[in-house]
Amino acid sequence: MSRVSEIMENMEYGPSIEDSDAVRDWLRGRSPFGHFIGGKFTRSGTTFTTRDPSTGEVLAEVTQGGDQDVAEAVRAARKAQNKWSGLSGTERARYLYAIARHIQKRERFLSVLETLDNGKPIRESRDIDIPLAARHFYHHAGWAELRDSEFPGHAPLGVCGQIIPWNFPLLMLAWKIAPALAAGNTVVLKPAEYTPLTALAFAEICQEVGLPAGVVNIVTGDGATGAALVQAELDKIAFTGSTEVGRAIADSLAGTGRKLTLELGGKSPFVVMDDADLDAAVEGVVDSIWFNQGQVCCAGSRILVAEAVAERFEALLRARMERLRIGQPLDKSTDIGAIVDPVQKDRILSICTEAIGAGAELIGGQQGEGCFIAPGYLRNIAPANPGMQQEIFGPIATLSTFRTADEAVELANNTRYGLAGSVWSESATVATDIAARIKAGVIWINCANMFDASAPFGGYRESGFGREGGRAGMLDYLSEPKVKSARDPAPRQPVLIDGAEGKGHDIDRTMKLYLGGAQKRPDGGAMYKVPGGLAPLGNRKDIRNAVEAAAKSGKWAAMGGHARAQVLYYIAENLSARADDFAKRTNRQETDAAIARAFQYAAWADKFDGTNVQAKPGHLVNVLPEPYGVMAIACPNTQPLAAFMSLVMPAIAMGNNVVVIPAQDDPLVLSDLYQVFDTSDLPGGVVNIVTGVRDELARTAAAHDGVAAMWYVGDRDGLASVERDAGGNLKPVWSPANRDWTKPDAQGAVFLRHAIQWKTIWLPYGA
Ligand code: NAI
Repeated sequence: MSRVSEIMENMEYGPSIEDSDAVRDWLRGRSPFGHFIGGKFTRSGTTFTTRDPSTGEVLAEVTQGGDQDVAEAVRAARKAQNKWSGLSGTERARYLYAIARHIQKRERFLSVLETLDNGKPIRESRDIDIPLAARHFYHHAGWAELRDSEFPGHAPLGVCGQIIPWNFPLLMLAWKIAPALAAGNTVVLKPAEYTPLTALAFAEICQEVGLPAGVVNIVTGDGATGAALVQAELDKIAFTGSTEVGRAIADSLAGTGRKLTLELGGKSPFVVMDDADLDAAVEGVVDSIWFNQGQVCCAGSRILVAEAVAERFEALLRARMERLRIGQPLDKSTDIGAIVDPVQKDRILSICTEAIGAGAELIGGQQGEGCFIAPGYLRNIAPANPGMQQEIFGPIATLSTFRTADEAVELANNTRYGLAGSVWSESATVATDIAARIKAGVIWINCANMFDASAPFGGYRESGFGREGGRAGMLDYLSEPKVKSARDPAPRQPVLIDGAEGKGHDIDRTMKLYLGGAQKRPDGGAMYKVPGGLAPLGNRKDIRNAVEAAAKSGKWAAMGGHARAQVLYYIAENLSARADDFAKRTNRQETDAAIARAFQYAAWADKFDGTNVQAKPGHLVNVLPEPYGVMAIACPNTQPLAAFMSLVMPAIAMGNNVVVIPAQDDPLVLSDLYQVFDTSDLPGGVVNIVTGVRDELARTAAAHDGVAAMWYVGDRDGLASVERDAGGNLKPVWSPANRDWTKPDAQGAVFLRHAIQWKTIWLPYGA
């Protein structure tokens, strides 16, 4: 008789196909599908076909949405919004958990439907996509209940347009719809054209639970439908998809004042240190890049392994890779299913061909018939190889080595993206050190691709901005507390003065730029007249110098909140000591407000904390505020001292270095502030000041890749230009309303929130 271990070794698995009859019956009964608008399915119009990518079989006909459909859906959502938001938290919560329960009840049906439409293994849709979708609605039922008590002063945004991709169709729908509804918004959602079916099944669930008509509207179609939605009269767009489309959306929303969150591509590092548990790390790779055929925005697609263990790791990896089963997605023992569409398959293969052409060697990655590609990885790959830089979005990783921890971090950050990262080391010290230094929104220590509704998810850099999940995700569906806005006076045409020092003019004082802690003449040498003297007319080069000075001054963030608080207290005291001088140059209110801001943010510097969320038992999940790095701030053309301090102090309190463009018409008071900064131990380069034509300088800063975030207070046209220019590296632009900057509502947590990005670090534990 054979021993069990022998049987296990030799066992050939027979296919174990999940039954799909009920789903096929449902499809036959419903296709061709219309849209879901105002609580009803519309009659189908011009349709497109959605197929099972593993066989090419037609699954259903779905309507291609046009401008009219979008407009009708937006009208329905608008009509429903007030009433929806006016329901009590408990009432809204009831709908959300009813949806969650119905998803759970239909778990098998939805898993099969998702697998048929997308090609992902049934094991994944059943164990990951659908349960996490249900969890998202449960979690946000709680936020619906708590909205008013936990977010006082905030209001829902109104109607949200939501555009989602095809890699996690129902899960992405849940990520979008649940927080929007919990906050009191209504939505128009457009699923991806390859995978519209679970969204349509979801529409039926909305009917089943009696969700009020118009709260959720679903319009199907391709990119043109998405583009029509972006143009519609909405209050927010939430988009998940390619960086290219994200950038186009940011561009077309520039200056509209509509809120935008983007969750885009990635090329996330998977770092294996020399003391890692290599077997566990190999399983991590399976969960990272061979999960969902690698069609995962946060896939650990760049494997970086310590040279000392690289050979052993690669041998284990290869052996494991060769045991992965590629096959029918509905087979319960399939590991790798089908790529979503032939178009995507071709895209993956063409990047691989390019990578091989540039010198890389592909292990595995064979193409099968139809939409199948075997798991693989590219080795001997140079950092500049296109396969190392571009998002392949398929089951192909890259494998390269490093010698030291510093080199690992440098390689990890050598990308324009910053969505996620995975770090493997048995040393908590080493792992947390690397996690802290990787510039990405989510870090998994000794694990990969873990998700939960309570754990904010989202990117740094060109991976987008905004968060989904948890408290941070809720805030992206709520407006900021209202303030009484004030008109920002338009800057005057600057009157240039010939001759650097303005000889022959009636000039009291001549100001300089403030760069890297030193007073500098402007690059062009030009000055312009301002009340009481002359100010330098900064140009593009000055902004570039300021960004460089800010980028070089690295230690401010590393000093920690406590040390930064001391510097800010020192600034407050030194300002107080010279209050009469400042009051003479401006007035008493501005001076008092400036001092108040320094005290306020000194207090906050070590208190704007992150949190530990209850994502999963046995996991420490920390959500930490991290500074952006270099921020640019364009100040209003009014209250030069109070506005400057109201904007600059929160940004630096959080550890950012800033490039500031002060009030164009009246910046002279700031030259006195330079001295206060110098005598308060503020390290050089933390605050850099360039005077001149605000909107020109702001546009240069917005377009600069070295600037990670931008604040702009000014007029609508100026904002539109800044937002357009910021689209290059997809930096977030925040435009707080101009207000009386001496009033208490010119300070507080809202400023701090815009000075940081949340980083979620997952750390499983267990002895
Ligand atoms: P995509 O960005 O074109 O599609 C995502 C969604 O945006 C779909 O619903 C699509 O219909 C919609 N869309 C397309 N053009 C639009 C426009 N101009 N305005 C508004 N909505 C628009 O992504 P695609 O073409 O399906 O995939 C291309 C590549 O993008 C992938 O190979 C992958 O690299 C990346 N991608 C990244 C995703 C992520 O989760 N970060 C998801 C999907 C794709």
